Amino acid sequence: MKGEEYAMNAAQQVESKRNAGYRAAEMVEDGMAVGLGTGSTVFFAMERLGERIVRDGLHIVGIPTSYQAAIRARQYGIPLSSLDEHPELDIAIDGADQVDPALNLIKGRGAAHLREKCVCDAARKVLIVVDSTKMVDTLDAPVPVEVLPFASAGVFRRLALLGAGPVLREGVKKDGPVVTDNGNLILDCDFGAIEKPRDLETEIATIPGALECGLFTAYGEKITIIVGEETGCRVVSLH
Ligand code: 5RP
Repeated sequence: MKGEEYAMNAAQQVESKRNAGYRAAEMVEDGMAVGLGTGSTVFFAMERLGERIVRDGLHIVGIPTSYQAAIRARQYGIPLSSLDEHPELDIAIDGADQVDPALNLIKGRGAAHLREKCVCDAARKVLIVVDSTKMVDTLDAPVPVEVLPFASAGVFRRLALLGAGPVLREGVKKDGPVVTDNGNLILDCDFGAIEKPRDLETEIATIPGALECGLFTAYGEKITIIVGEETGCRVVSLH
């Protein structure tokens, strides 16, 4: 099964994302250090967290994964800190571009996956908020790889040898390549259907200068997927 995009219009998708984000925010408890992912679905979680801070006196601290997440969290009145201050997080809320039945993820449409993986790794529990178009049988979306500019030609070559057809991500409303929040470049890699995502993630990690790829295959045990639907949510985990 491919995602369910054929069955969902833009308004339904927004409502689904809102339901997923709001449900995740309700699962956050007083006193928690919360990883804040990047993207439109996490924004809804932040919106509801902001409401809970004002309405219920919820005390939390957020660890943002990008400039975008930090800006939005501030708008919602979420106090911020860093991984330096909180190397262990109670929970993280993040989005994803694809999720397979083993809860392997592809992330990084927003080029934030390097910090997102650091935050995911630091969190005891990870809530992934998606709409149903993201749920697939086999991961097959392009995998972004964050690349050290110094090594980009060599990494490009190595990824091409893996059959990735790497493409340098170009900016929108900015000429030239996307430069990440960490000052690096992004190569989008099309591997087609990824039958062994764990092996591919490991292989990419062996390339010097490939700083992090958007495959997340090591966290299924602590991930809960919250799939937003038009009228509610369904929750998926391995347990
Ligand atoms: C950013 C990401 C996002 O979490 C992912 O792209 C999902 O975004 P959205 O919730 O807007 O669909 O990985 O790097």
